Amino acid sequence: MSDQQANLEWRDGAVPVSTRFDDPYFSLENGLAETRHVFLQGNDLPARFVPGFHIGELGFGTGLNLLTTWAAWDTAGMTTPLQFTSFEAFPMTAPDMARALEVFPELAGYAERLVAAWAEDTSLSTLEGVTARVVTGDARQTLAGEKFIVDAWFLDGFSPAKNPELWGADLMTQVGAHTKAGGTAATYTAAGFVRRNLTDAGFEVTRVPGFGRKRHMTIARKLA
Ligand SMILES: C[S@@+](CC[C@H](N)C(=O)[O-])C[C@H]1O[C@@H](n2cnc3c(N)ncnc32)[C@H](O)[C@@H]1O
Repeated sequence: MSDQQANLEWRDGAVPVSTRFDDPYFSLENGLAETRHVFLQGNDLPARFVPGFHIGELGFGTGLNLLTTWAAWDTAGMTTPLQFTSFEAFPMTAPDMARALEVFPELAGYAERLVAAWAEDTSLSTLEGVTARVVTGDARQTLAGEKFIVDAWFLDGFSPAKNPELWGADLMTQVGAHTKAGGTAATYTAAGFVRRNLTDAGFEVTRVPGFGRKRHMTIARKLA
């Protein structure tokens, strides 16, 4: 097992599952609908889109969240590029990314552009049409050194039980420090320690209905 690359197996031949974390990258049932429910609706998007809107993400994975948001941005008629900054410790290969995304035909045009740019440079410096950047490395080390401040966060580590390092108190404090007053965060989990860490990081935290069989998820709003 390599130290820095994603290590995958494929469930039903289609859904990538991390063997390092023993968890799927997205819902086994409907990854696209889950992303729309948890991360778009959870951050009140596309209603809040304005020029210059900036999204931060913990866990870039397959890029599905980026593509889903980019498509929603275009559908909303936005004419300036979306800004999207994501963090990833174990980048997957371009062929694996292409395979993971091919089950979402409505995103095919976006996926083709993402995979081509990813194959050249995983920081996405060559991707056009969206101002996206992926910071490689452990987010616990990399986020603190970043200067940007976002309107919304997608908190998308693997499940808190299996990937606790992406949900810890210090990292959530950094998430809070990189969020505008009134900005938001959303995640599919309602784990108590995650909600407490977000509260301690200056967010007002609310439990709302989750996607599919998940009873609850979490949305949060940064207090002034
Ligand atoms: C559930 S997946 C993300 C799915 C992704 N948002 C998508 O659209 O496909 C979780 C991601 O977090 C990454 N990850 C886990 N621990 C990390 C860490 N300490 N720092 C940065 N990324 C991490 C994993 O490698 C994995 O890609």
